[in-house]
Amino acid sequence: MKKIILLVFAMLLVLGGAQAQKKKTNKPVNNKETVDGIVKGDIQITEYLPLPAPEVGLDAPLQEVLKNRQTIRKFSEEDLPLEMLSSLLWCTYGYNRPEEQKRVVPSAVNCQEYDIYVFTREGTYLYDAEKNALGLVVLGDNRSIISQQKFFAIAPVSIVMVANYDRMGMFKDEATRDFYAATDCGYISQDIYLFCSAAHLGTVACGGIDREAIQKLLGFKNGRAMLAHPVGLK
Ligand SMILES: Cc1cc2nc3c(=O)[nH]c(=O)nc-3n(C[C@H](O)[C@H](O)[C@H](O)COP(=O)(O)O)c2cc1C
Repeated sequence: MKKIILLVFAMLLVLGGAQAQKKKTNKPVNNKETVDGIVKGDIQITEYLPLPAPEVGLDAPLQEVLKNRQTIRKFSEEDLPLEMLSSLLWCTYGYNRPEEQKRVVPSAVNCQEYDIYVFTREGTYLYDAEKNALGLVVLGDNRSIISQQKFFAIAPVSIVMVANYDRMGMFKDEATRDFYAATDCGYISQDIYLFCSAAHLGTVACGGIDREAIQKLLGFKNGRAMLAHPVGLK
């Protein structure tokens, strides 16, 4: 009898361990993620710019939003109000279920592989959805290194989506990884289009970007800049 009880106890321990392991591997993984709140993977954050609550332009009727979704390539140079930038970023890659660390966009195996960079006249920032803040990566205006397409130098904000391959180790080969990175990118891009439609902003999804120059500027090692979206008032 004692042996049977011991055996059942041992089995429960093993099962519990396996369950804990499963939970761990389901979480988005980046081995080098936040060390002290300042270093994120390969990226050095020197300071955080807090964002206001993301509440602007989110109550537009879906039918109107879909009807008005379109590519715009002509932008005003005027800065976006910070409230609008905050809402744009929440729609791009914010948490809609923060208690589960889940986002407004889906991702294959919930790998949440994207890093969202924001280029402005003042600097280049990494969006931190948890803090609702922008982490400064590079000071100064680097908008025109994104692409030779002229509107990048004019639009006050450009979002650059970088697939971080450190979080995609679960895919068995590069072709599978790249397929899911490209698919996941589409959801983010469409959210940007829809927010811009709702908030009467212009945007264009751009694949024609200088991926090498972006990588060099940002300093990430294992990833790829996939798409960029300049955003501005029309
Ligand atoms: C993956 C992708 C890459 C694109 N790359 C560029 C680009 O580099 N430059 C550009 O001006 N437009 C680019 N576009 C915008 C398309 O040209 C545009 O969506 C298309 O002409 C349809 O227009 P619409 O978005 O107004 O429906 C891209 C769109 C997608 C989906």
